[in-house]
Amino acid sequence: MLFYISSYQGSGGGTFYDVRCTQESATGVFNHTNVLDLPMLYIITPTYDRPTQIPDLVRLSNTLRNVRNLHWIVVEDGLNLSNHVKSLLQDSKILYTYLSASSPSSYVKRRLKGIAQRNKALSWIRKNHQKGLDAVSYFADDDNSYTLELFSEIRKTKKISVFPVGFTGGDMTFQAPMIENGKVVGFYAWAHDIRVFAVDMAGFALNVRVLFDYQKMMFSYTTPAGMNEEYFLKQCCTVDELEPLANNCTKILVWHIRTQSPKLAKNISNIDWNVSSLIKRLKINTKIYKRNRINENILMR
Ligand code: UGA
Ligand code: MN
Repeated sequence: MLFYISSYQGSGGGTFYDVRCTQESATGVFNHTNVLDLPMLYIITPTYDRPTQIPDLVRLSNTLRNVRNLHWIVVEDGLNLSNHVKSLLQDSKILYTYLSASSPSSYVKRRLKGIAQRNKALSWIRKNHQKGLDAVSYFADDDNSYTLELFSEIRKTKKISVFPVGFTGGDMTFQAPMIENGKVVGFYAWAHDIRVFAVDMAGFALNVRVLFDYQKMMFSYTTPAGMNEEYFLKQCCTVDELEPLANNCTKILVWHIRTQSPKLAKNISNIDWNVSSLIKRLKINTKIYKRNRINENILMR
């Protein structure tokens, strides 16, 4: 096993020391002597306050901390940053930038999730990326499941790459580009007949050069639900240009997960996952403690 130690300045302020033993080195894809020659990965994650936010982000951070030369851009939906998310990011030792952007208040627009947040991250990259350095960006929702191999694959992206996505709910169990002679010729996906780019948000990556070549390229609230990716990609490329990854799009390296919101916790926000705080919260919410028949003597101590 190879170990790699690096240090760099994080947006969080301090210098991070990283000791990692990764899949990439173990499989020989990665050569530890030239880590900084690898294209940087900007991983863009919209996130919002809900009971699964921290557990989801813990899972994602434990994946991302295994990947080298990665910059995690997390964008909170709202006006303010969350202290819980901030400390999770600091503890993760991942190089990160934590921003916020509010979704519009109108219900119709809110049905399009992550739009304002992804656009905020794109503007940040356009403003802060050191031009000339090779980098790839990828939209990683906070609740999906990602293999480490995915990150090695997306680093190869020259313009726009595509790859299959597994689904854990709905009619189809996957979505994948259809390949003929190494070229994308269509898609196995819902509405593949009306969508030019029938890809999931988790099913493509782009070289950051595209963001500079197409300065105005962004996501929009005017697109119908489910057409975000289509709208975004139409601004910069044609199907013919798509680069198939994941062994000619035969491997599933990422799953789109739908976590069901726990009914009990629907109105709970800004949870502090500390048992004393949780007990305090429980004491305030008498309904919950009655429903669970929690012994009053224990609770009131
Ligand atoms: C699907 C797609 O995979 C998303 O990329 C797409 O943004 C979304 O549909 C959509 O409807 O536009 P889905 O699993 O249904 O994803 O959506 P969520 O996982 O609930 O949200 C996508 C991302 O946006 C997540 O990272 C989530 O944390 C974030 N989000 C969601 C917000 O920032 N604010 C919200 O109010 C809801
Ligand atoms: Mn999701």
